[in-house]
Amino acid sequence: MTTYTIERISLAAHGGNLINRVLTGAKREEYLQKINSLKSLTIDAWALSDLELIAIGGFSPLTGFMNQKDYLRVIEEMRLADGTLWSIPITLPASKEQASQFEIGDEIGLFGEDGKPYGVLKLVEKYTYDKNKEASLVYGTKDLAHPGVKRVYEKGDVYLAGPVYMINRLNHGSFEEFYKDPIETRQLFAGKGWKTVVGFQTRNPVHRAHEYIQKVALESVDGLLLNPLVGETKSDDIPADIRMESYQVILDHYYPKDRVALVIYPAAMRYAGPKEAILHAIVRKNYGCTHFIVGRDHAGVGNYYGTYEAQELISQYEDELGIQIFKFEHAFYCTKCENMATEKTCPHSKEFHVHLSGTKVREKLYNGESLPKEFSRPEVAAVLLKGVRKRNHYY
Ligand code: ADX
Repeated sequence: MTTYTIERISLAAHGGNLINRVLTGAKREEYLQKINSLKSLTIDAWALSDLELIAIGGFSPLTGFMNQKDYLRVIEEMRLADGTLWSIPITLPASKEQASQFEIGDEIGLFGEDGKPYGVLKLVEKYTYDKNKEASLVYGTKDLAHPGVKRVYEKGDVYLAGPVYMINRLNHGSFEEFYKDPIETRQLFAGKGWKTVVGFQTRNPVHRAHEYIQKVALESVDGLLLNPLVGETKSDDIPADIRMESYQVILDHYYPKDRVALVIYPAAMRYAGPKEAILHAIVRKNYGCTHFIVGRDHAGVGNYYGTYEAQELISQYEDELGIQIFKFEHAFYCTKCENMATEKTCPHSKEFHVHLSGTKVREKLYNGESLPKEFSRPEVAAVLLKGVRKRNHYY
């Protein structure tokens, strides 16, 4: 195993070292040669993105898919077996039939749904798990209408655990130019002379409220890592390709070029609210951020979590997290102030505040209506409208 020593940046990765399990050179060749003679498992896009994030160090200190001891302590106490803070299980599911073909000690070739080998798992353990327990402890609900919970009940009944290597890198298609490994974002920040960087997680287009909280944060730090999640999301979220176009447009028109980096976060969205906020912060620390934004209902869906529950949970772990959290109240445009604001800064009543729910935004776009300029920059609204129209036309 090679690990990077991080001499050029002061921020340690979570748990100490930035992990690198991406094979290169002779070792990679060796695995490419033997991959077809190994037992194999086809993994879905979600598992593949977890494999990638482990291998590139986004999920440092994980070096593989979790064993039962780590898994249980993570869901019960939000800690790995060695005590390191960790909020969401990172596991490799397989069906009972699939799992029965593997012996402990096997090296298993991990193939994508495209038939290409991406990684190797050294199997150290296989174990069954309690789906009700995982759903309740991680997501706080067993309701199948919750997209993260639905996934828990759909996936295979056995977890395969052990260290992994990546042997072929994923191709992120049209997002490739916005892809960076954590070691590369760290180098990018150092190259720009940024000593403090705020990370921003999003699965939405950047609307005025997002822009406002990013810019308030940017008043205090050197740089912003706009780090949109582009892995699997629920089907009614705005597709990542449309969002990526909207990010470029808003950055071009409204942000100082030398203070923002747009880099994709190639993970699947869990919608686990407070617990996912902690994972999101850990990952951004691994990418080299010193600060992370948690606004209202971070990583939430429906009404499963309280508006500020993510902030409340993360506040309890801030010292241990090693990344500072910027917490923001619900931001909106106030037509009286003629400005973005929150309850902390605006004296006017709700009738002057412009809010749109995600559902309302989608409804408007699918009806061919633009979004109010108080809610979304017109350039962003135009990209979203065009994208949604095109999608409707093609599908
Ligand atoms: S998330 O699921 O990726 O968290 P989203 O893209 O909506 O969803 O939010 C990105 C970040 O902006 C999160 O930290 C969220 O809490 C914050 N946020 C979104 N909308 C607002 C708002 N109106 N006011 C304050 N914070 C917000």
